[in-house]
Amino acid sequence: MGALIQARDLRRTYRMGGMDVHALSGVTLDIEAGAYVAVMGASGSGKSTFMNMLGALDQPSSGQLIINDIALHERSADELAAFRNQTIGFVFQQFNLLARTTALDNVGLPLLYSGMATKERHARAAHCLEMVGLGDRMDHHPSQLSGGQQQRVAIARALANNPRILLADEPTGALDSRTTQDVMAIFDQLNREGITLIIVTHEDEVGAHARRQIIFRDGHVLEDRR
Ligand SMILES: Nc1ncnc2c1ncn2[C@@H]1O[C@H](COP(=O)(O)OP(=O)(O)OP(=O)(O)O)[C@@H](O)[C@H]1O
Ligand SMILES: [Mg+2]
Repeated sequence: MGALIQARDLRRTYRMGGMDVHALSGVTLDIEAGAYVAVMGASGSGKSTFMNMLGALDQPSSGQLIINDIALHERSADELAAFRNQTIGFVFQQFNLLARTTALDNVGLPLLYSGMATKERHARAAHCLEMVGLGDRMDHHPSQLSGGQQQRVAIARALANNPRILLADEPTGALDSRTTQDVMAIFDQLNREGITLIIVTHEDEVGAHARRQIIFRDGHVLEDRR
């Protein structure tokens, strides 16, 4: 069995106004289970495109992508949706929480979609909020929480389905340096507990938390530092 994530000559081309934009132009790499990776590089270098492939939010134009022994490039839309729910958690720069919904119900939402009964769902959501240090904020709405706390709710939500892989695209981009430290401490802890963590960042200080830095340029890997 190979690495948890195996990308082979991954390409993604967008057709824009009669022109081809090569967002990814041949990415080959392996990421091992339990890895802590920072994806870095200039704006437009293909970082988010790469993350969207890993999370099966988008499919490659060509190349192979095998995650958890599943060949994503060969799967149907339904199979990809199931893969996403079971294997991947996402965290974004904007926390994307529902404004009129408590922290507990925001975290429970993915479990509602997967059909979990109410009591079990609340218990699981409460556990995830405790994991990010917000056990005492379960009934708060997003507007009653700081930016860092809102991002921690979003992390708890990403953990709800107990994913093997957590993908975070500029998760500290909207946070000040102190709350960035709080959020990074949670990521560090989750990785110590075994989750495979891949974080896109422009900040060296965030990238330094990872044990591997993959630098993109013009749709390919410029540098891979461990
Ligand atoms: N849906 C799309 N349609 C057309 N072109 C796109 C699309 N998404 C991305 N691109 C182009 O693909 C390239 C890579 O974009 P991507 O979003 O992956 O960059 P990025 O490294 O995440 O940048 P940033 O740091 O600004 O978030 C860019 O040239 C971008 O304009
Ligand atoms: Mg991006």
